[in-house]
Amino acid sequence: MTSPPPVHVRAPGKINLSLRAGPPDTEGYHPLATVFQAVSLYEDVVAHPGQGVSVQINGRGADLPTDTTNLAVRAAGLLRSSTGTEDGVRLELTKAVPVAGGMAGGSADAAATLLACDQLWGTGRTREELVALAARLGADVPFALTGMTAVGTGRGDVVTPAMSRGTYHWVLALQDEGLSTPEVFRALDEGAGPGRPQPEVDEDLLAALVGGDATALAPHLGNDLQEPALDLRPELGDVLAACHRAGALAALVSGSGPTVVALALDGPHARSVAEVVRAAEVADEVLTATGPVPGARVVERVGAQ
Ligand code: C5P
Repeated sequence: MTSPPPVHVRAPGKINLSLRAGPPDTEGYHPLATVFQAVSLYEDVVAHPGQGVSVQINGRGADLPTDTTNLAVRAAGLLRSSTGTEDGVRLELTKAVPVAGGMAGGSADAAATLLACDQLWGTGRTREELVALAARLGADVPFALTGMTAVGTGRGDVVTPAMSRGTYHWVLALQDEGLSTPEVFRALDEGAGPGRPQPEVDEDLLAALVGGDATALAPHLGNDLQEPALDLRPELGDVLAACHRAGALAALVSGSGPTVVALALDGPHARSVAEVVRAAEVADEVLTATGPVPGARVVERVGAQ
């Protein structure tokens, strides 16, 4: 029998346009009301037929673990055990989303791997089944499958698509040294104390997204994890200030940070804001991206007729 051709899947990183977090539950997870936007910074996963499950990492994070603590390896293992297939996979990961940057790069790897392995092995999971598996891998993995713009409730894993018109232009200020998500949530709890209300989705932000006007969206962007991220990494204050000075419509920490995202009017404005932020030397890398973009999707079956 000839082996199937490799499958190439691409999945986007995300930013949180709004993130509201309540007090932790008994397992330490925080109830969230968040609005995700998938942006044009991608993780590429090529799934080759193989023995067992293995992974090779290119691009960012070449020094990430390749054992079962790797989320892509866990995703392939979960699909394997839940379907009973004995087929294996050799995963080739090319990462563009910052590692531990608050943009859910690892979650994108997991989402892309689920889809790629399902295609490679012909395990035929429905979209709903893949989303259910995704939620078992991490709170941000279901959104990486869905993409575009969506509301996240529960732990952020209950994803409902949201209306959004037009394209938004972002400047991303990246740091080489990541932040630990659990630590940022812990810092939030220390700062906020118990007894805060359950989080609610910002309806004004959702209305602004339907209008499709970046200037109208800007005042509604917000992130409860920004203050704790700044407590842990005060230099991020300089990044936010540089974005404001550069003329961004708004700037905020993405998810648990340390990536800072700044909203621009259009593509040329984003490039000029990026130039000024780069010159301020407050970030290790400054990129531009647009959103929303689709979730994990098959780019090609390599070598398919
Ligand atoms: O679900 P995931 O593994 O991506 O979450 C990483 C960590 O972030 C969790 O172990 C938890 O400490 C924290 N987290 C949280 N509340 C959420 C999502 C994540 O406290 N809603």
